[in-house]
Amino acid sequence: QANTSQLAERVQGVKDRMGNRLYLPGHHYQKEEVIQFADDRGDSLKLAQLSAANQEAEAIVFCGVHFMAETADILTKPNQKVYLPDLRAGCSMADMADITQTEKAWDALLNMFDDTIMPLTYVNSTAAIKSFVGKHEGATVTSSNAHKMVEWAFTQKERILFLPDQHLGRNTAFDLGIPLDHMAVWDPITEQLLYEGSLHDIKVILWKGHCSVHENFTIQNVHQVRNEQPDMNIIVHPECRREVVALSDYAGSTNYIIKTIEQAPPGSAFAIGTEMNLVQRIIREHPDKHIISLNPNMCPCLTMNRIDLPHLAWCLESIEHRETHHIISVDSTVAHNAKLALDRMLARA
Ligand code: 13P
Ligand code: SF4
Repeated sequence: QANTSQLAERVQGVKDRMGNRLYLPGHHYQKEEVIQFADDRGDSLKLAQLSAANQEAEAIVFCGVHFMAETADILTKPNQKVYLPDLRAGCSMADMADITQTEKAWDALLNMFDDTIMPLTYVNSTAAIKSFVGKHEGATVTSSNAHKMVEWAFTQKERILFLPDQHLGRNTAFDLGIPLDHMAVWDPITEQLLYEGSLHDIKVILWKGHCSVHENFTIQNVHQVRNEQPDMNIIVHPECRREVVALSDYAGSTNYIIKTIEQAPPGSAFAIGTEMNLVQRIIREHPDKHIISLNPNMCPCLTMNRIDLPHLAWCLESIEHRETHHIISVDSTVAHNAKLALDRMLARA
């Protein structure tokens, strides 16, 4: 069994030998042992843009989760291969909307609202869902451009179907002035539209999905910090529940959280409601500030954490040996329509 420093040497060795033929994007939620090797680190929007812009790498080893690697495959050239170091690194939120459920929901919603709905999907979704959305003239969104994309969608149609994260959809629509009783939730299990008020007033249909990491931040966590450390600023990701966002001081994407803390003066205090690897890194990078997690018992995103140093080393060496088992390859028809949805976002991002 190789030890950590041997594994690190093996990873660096492949990187040195392959040079620009290899590109290694890393999401902010990745572990330190992995992110130290990333050529670029970023949130999902930045990594999608950088992958699309990369012209020279023949192998893109995505240190993130499955939907991010699929997005990179869709946006890169056919001769560029995208690899995911552990194929089990999925996203429970993306898995909450499957294509059969989505097509059924769409038919039911068209019956209720005729042709007045535009589908939007968070990039945290499968390529099949992005393809469905692209085919129906909709677009993808990320947490950093959700406001802009929802505003755009309302210039096209009267209503939106927002997949798969109900919280990002609700928080974004609420910020844009849409009252909560003008939002409904589509439950894919019971195949029912849940709403209060009048059907005619519904402007936003939220898919009943969530992030199993961010849903763990609660209003009790907020009250505890407010009681025990009243000077703390509370900053959360919009994948958190509406009531948690409402009680917080700031809410925004991964990039927004990082920038807000970078720009805060020394001595500032923040309780952060987002993924633990990122919170730990922010704590290390800002010794002049007092930073805690909004929920200290929080786990990191377990699927993101499946990408570790051993998997990275095995994946890189298998690429050098021309093996194909870590490749993520999206079917070409699915990719074509999914790219329509991604391009509509990238044109406005
Ligand atoms: P962003 O990188 O878009 O903020 O998304 C957060 C996330 O949950 C990634 O899986
Ligand atoms: Fe999916 Fe949530 Fe993990 Fe992001 S943090 S990959 S949304 S489960």
